[in-house]
Amino acid sequence: CAEDRRNQYELYKETADWLLAHTTQRPKIAIICGSGLGALADTLHNKTVFPYEEIPYFPQSTVPGHAGRLVFGDLSGKPCVCMQGRFHVYEGYAISTVTFPIRVFFLLGVEILIVTNAAGGLNQHFQVGDIMFIRDHINMLGFAGQNPLRGPNDKREEPVKHFHRWNAITNKMANKFQYHCSVQETWGRNICSCLKISLEAYLAAQLRFGVRFPCMSDAYDRDLFSLAKESAQELGYLEFIQEGVYCMLAGPSYETIAESRMLQVLGADAVGMSTVPEVIIARHCGLRVFGISLITNKVVMNYDSQERANHEEVLHTSRIRAAALQKLVTCFVGKTGNN
Ligand code: 6GU
Repeated sequence: CAEDRRNQYELYKETADWLLAHTTQRPKIAIICGSGLGALADTLHNKTVFPYEEIPYFPQSTVPGHAGRLVFGDLSGKPCVCMQGRFHVYEGYAISTVTFPIRVFFLLGVEILIVTNAAGGLNQHFQVGDIMFIRDHINMLGFAGQNPLRGPNDKREEPVKHFHRWNAITNKMANKFQYHCSVQETWGRNICSCLKISLEAYLAAQLRFGVRFPCMSDAYDRDLFSLAKESAQELGYLEFIQEGVYCMLAGPSYETIAESRMLQVLGADAVGMSTVPEVIIARHCGLRVFGISLITNKVVMNYDSQERANHEEVLHTSRIRAAALQKLVTCFVGKTGNN
């Protein structure tokens, strides 16, 4: 069955080839629309829409009334593909099913992944309605062996096809090297590290997806992060922009007070039930990632509080901030590709 074959390159390839045969659009950016943020996909120009059930091997949405469609089109003049409706572990899917679309996007030629989600605020400085740019994540499921990369890693090598991956990394290294050459005493060590990283990137670019042990210390792209900051500033949004660490739990139950306190101590600023598996798979195959959490509610932290986490509040806040979030992503997308 498709479930057992989710690890196989051929399955993703078949899906990607089907899509490429059914649209002339060639997206460079993929956007995952989180809870209540699906309207962004409606704002694309020259849309081509595929309901998930029409796409070979694509997982189906289980949430009733939740759109499940892939929308191709232009945003700020850049070719994009949006997932309107994503897949969650709490729905009962295997993690490899949740991340299936990401490798398909990679095979379509996508280079940047934008992930959005609704999350509970753990950081006491956050307000409901704040937009948190994701600096880093804590993969709580991964601690228990539930990593989307668990299982055999595709080892097949091909002539370097994903040239942009190697190119992007090597260019960055060249800049860094130039800088360090001007700072005399460190150049020896740095030329070695630059060459090593460039070689690793070259080898990774030959693999059909990525390496067995992918690095995650650069999961969230710092240049994209700066672009997003710029966009927020231009739009006058800085007063409700935050940055921080997103922690994923499987759900669907919300956290107990003891669990929330634990997450806060561990360094998490926001907690949710998605995003991390997709980001890991995206980084594995070399996509650059930018992530946004909309803080839809404050996580209850003490026993005197009468507040209770609930899905209605999550959806309510998403509705209120949806327009700002759309503008932000639109402005951000317009700035990509120039760096
Ligand atoms: Cl409070 N917790 C989790 N796990 N996910 C959420 C949330 C809270 N609020 C929105 N999504």
